[in-house]
Amino acid sequence: MINIHKKENKLPLPPGNLGLPIIGETISFLNDPNFAENRQKKYGNVFKTNLFGSPTIIMIGAEANRFIFSTENNNFVGKWPESFSTLLGPASVSIQTGSIHQSRRKLLSQAFQPRALASYIPSIVEITNSYLQKWENLGQLTWYPEIRKYTFHVACKLLVGTDTTNDPHFAELFEEWFQGLFTLPIRLPGTKFSKALKSREQLLLKIENIILQRQKQPSSEQDALGLFLNAKDEDGSSLSVDELKDQILNLLFAGHEALTSALSSFCLLLAQNPEILAAARKEQEKIICTDMLTSVHLKEMTYLDQILKEVLRFIPPVFGGFREVIQTCEFNGYQLPQGWSILYEVGKTNQDETIYKDAQKFDPERFSIERKEDKSKPFSYVSFGGGMRECLGKEFAKLEMKILATFLLRGYEWELLPGQNLDLKMIPTPKPRDGLKVVFRSIN
Ligand code: HEM
Repeated sequence: MINIHKKENKLPLPPGNLGLPIIGETISFLNDPNFAENRQKKYGNVFKTNLFGSPTIIMIGAEANRFIFSTENNNFVGKWPESFSTLLGPASVSIQTGSIHQSRRKLLSQAFQPRALASYIPSIVEITNSYLQKWENLGQLTWYPEIRKYTFHVACKLLVGTDTTNDPHFAELFEEWFQGLFTLPIRLPGTKFSKALKSREQLLLKIENIILQRQKQPSSEQDALGLFLNAKDEDGSSLSVDELKDQILNLLFAGHEALTSALSSFCLLLAQNPEILAAARKEQEKIICTDMLTSVHLKEMTYLDQILKEVLRFIPPVFGGFREVIQTCEFNGYQLPQGWSILYEVGKTNQDETIYKDAQKFDPERFSIERKEDKSKPFSYVSFGGGMRECLGKEFAKLEMKILATFLLRGYEWELLPGQNLDLKMIPTPKPRDGLKVVFRSIN
């Protein structure tokens, strides 16, 4: 034991720069879309920095992911920056750790089982059609904020059974709360963090009212909250209202934020790649669906699966995941000291040229049965993370993406308006700077 300790202490820290006192390199991390790329070029796949007040080691690539995901709870534990964890709340599954995290994952995952997902399709279709109609009526629109309203509407309906259009204040509060997630946690009047804390209190109150209402009048409709209210963990106990509030807030956030980014990237990339759009429409022509869209139809859309997977590789909605080192360990000859933060980085992992041919090219064919590029090495495709913290809503996300994509491909065309800035603002999730301005029309 003593020998191991001595050996570990002799190892060097990864190269890199800790930046300014306290704020470290946080400002560049938040604002520079090439933050990871520039440092990877200079230092390699493992480098140190300082983010959100913590010395942090950024790790890129399949090898690093394998190490992190396979030694989780032994070397590492989930730990997000203070602003993020305070605003999500200690009882949310993204923040819970150890055995409680595992038992809650099991309980919450009931809402994302195949049977539950299949039952959500009619509601998603109904909401999708109402937004498509609205966008067609608008004719010209800034799409990103509209897609955000759409994903929030679906999340509220399917997770807690409420209709957000009845309470526009709910979405506004969410927006203000969201603005504080990746900021320095300064509790002074007027800071984004303080405003977000206030919004959190109001959101929790609204969520509590929804829960209490549902406890009084159980609904026959299938949604996640209904499942959670009846769910019991291994000890036979159910979730307290206080815990449920944090869990629901977490799911509403996770359930629409990354999806908004993913869907707007889909719309952008297909507008920029007309030959892929045409091939996707061809596939739709082969799938006869005269009545209601079902999971059987969706399963047949294998080329669309490839496209969506490539969208998430090319512009990953989630930049990575934070962990804390709980015992000093070694990776690739570097010391990862106890107490430091780790960030596994998704974007550059998904661009690894040794795995992905012409990684800078948008090419859904790389995921065809013949090529399956991501299968050449485990953990080389990490858009949904991996290991015991892999995205809990992965199948829900894929379902919703596929439904909107299907209706867009079958009935609509969209054109990017000239003169707009299509560069992406990357944090918290990629978003076109001018919000994706398009002309939108029906093709039928
Ligand atoms: C975790 C990506 C949609 C719920 C994660 C993680 C990633 C991710 C990378 C892992 C973070 C880590 O390692 O710490 C995505 C992407 C999405 C998406 C790319 C959309 C395209 C969703 C949806 C839901 C959801 C729709 C719920 C309805 C969650 C939850 C966790 C999580 C609860 C935390 C899991 C845990 O810590 O055990 N997601 N997500 N996500 N995601 Fe998603």
